Amino acid sequence: MPVQKIAVVGGGTMGSGIALTAATHSIKAVVIDISEDQLSDAKTYHEKQVARAISKGRMTEEEGVVALSNLSYGTSMQDAEDADWAVEAATENIEVKKEIFKQMFDVFSKNTILATNTSSISITELASAIPEAANRVIGMHFFNPVPVMKLVEVIRGRETSEETTSATLVLSEAMGKIPVPADDFAGFVSNRVLMPMINEAFHAWEDGVAKPEDIDSIMKLGCAFPMGPLRLADYIGLDVCRDIMMVMYNGLDENPKYLPNKKLVELVEQGNLGDKSGRGVYTYDEA
Ligand code: 3HC
Repeated sequence: MPVQKIAVVGGGTMGSGIALTAATHSIKAVVIDISEDQLSDAKTYHEKQVARAISKGRMTEEEGVVALSNLSYGTSMQDAEDADWAVEAATENIEVKKEIFKQMFDVFSKNTILATNTSSISITELASAIPEAANRVIGMHFFNPVPVMKLVEVIRGRETSEETTSATLVLSEAMGKIPVPADDFAGFVSNRVLMPMINEAFHAWEDGVAKPEDIDSIMKLGCAFPMGPLRLADYIGLDVCRDIMMVMYNGLDENPKYLPNKKLVELVEQGNLGDKSGRGVYTYDEA
């Protein structure tokens, strides 16, 4: 039976993107967040994206109404207790995620698959928070902006069952995505390759090889990146980039090549997190 309703735990950029993608593919999605403000931002984002899709002719008015009616919002997991799938998209902190997994285990039915959108943390480690249900835990790593990026990186933990894996592939495709497997190493494939490249761009900036605009132009024009690595770091969030580097440093034998660059760390410590704070490598008009 196809998935009818998903619970998305965490209403930030990734969670709201996952929910919108489900809703535009005929799957009901409940966004759960403890912050009313975050839920309100998610709703505004959904309304704007649907209005844009209609204005661009990618969706009819009727399809837009259906997509929005597939979305709901709640501050408690109980608001989605009848969901037949749950995906955690909270902050990239192992203790926070483990706590959410315990709650998901308590609230959702014993058949519900419990996925995580973690970008770097071990699935086996997260699943250890709920050993009785470790077979139902899987990594389902989406990319920002979720409605646009085609990939879902699918990561099995040590205990993840075949049923959980095949159901995840089916759901990913039902959401219009292409699932690709990766093993459960810190950073998986995507961030193992992407983050050191972004970190190296910070080193190049720090060493004075070129100014940020020129580093980004070189990588855009010379390597066909849609965004240069420093612009992309702001887009992802500099705190997220730093945290992923640290997860890889700790998880891959403390290899110093994964230590976050000094300039990156300084910007984060100053509260300059990129697009979301209005300032990072670059300064933006609006936060
Ligand atoms: N939500 C939904 N749709 C969005 C969107 C969003 N947040 N942002 C852009 N889009 C859509 C637009 O609506 C537009 O579609 P349309 O023309 O049909 O209306 C289309 O994307 C292109 O957008 P724009 O014309 O505004 O801008 P660009 O052509 O510059 O594209 C971009 C924007 C898609 C973000 C492009 O710059 C890009 O692909 N950048 C790289 C993104 C990337 O690398 N993402 C991966 C990050 S790593 C990650 O997420 C993993 C994590 O673990 C760190």
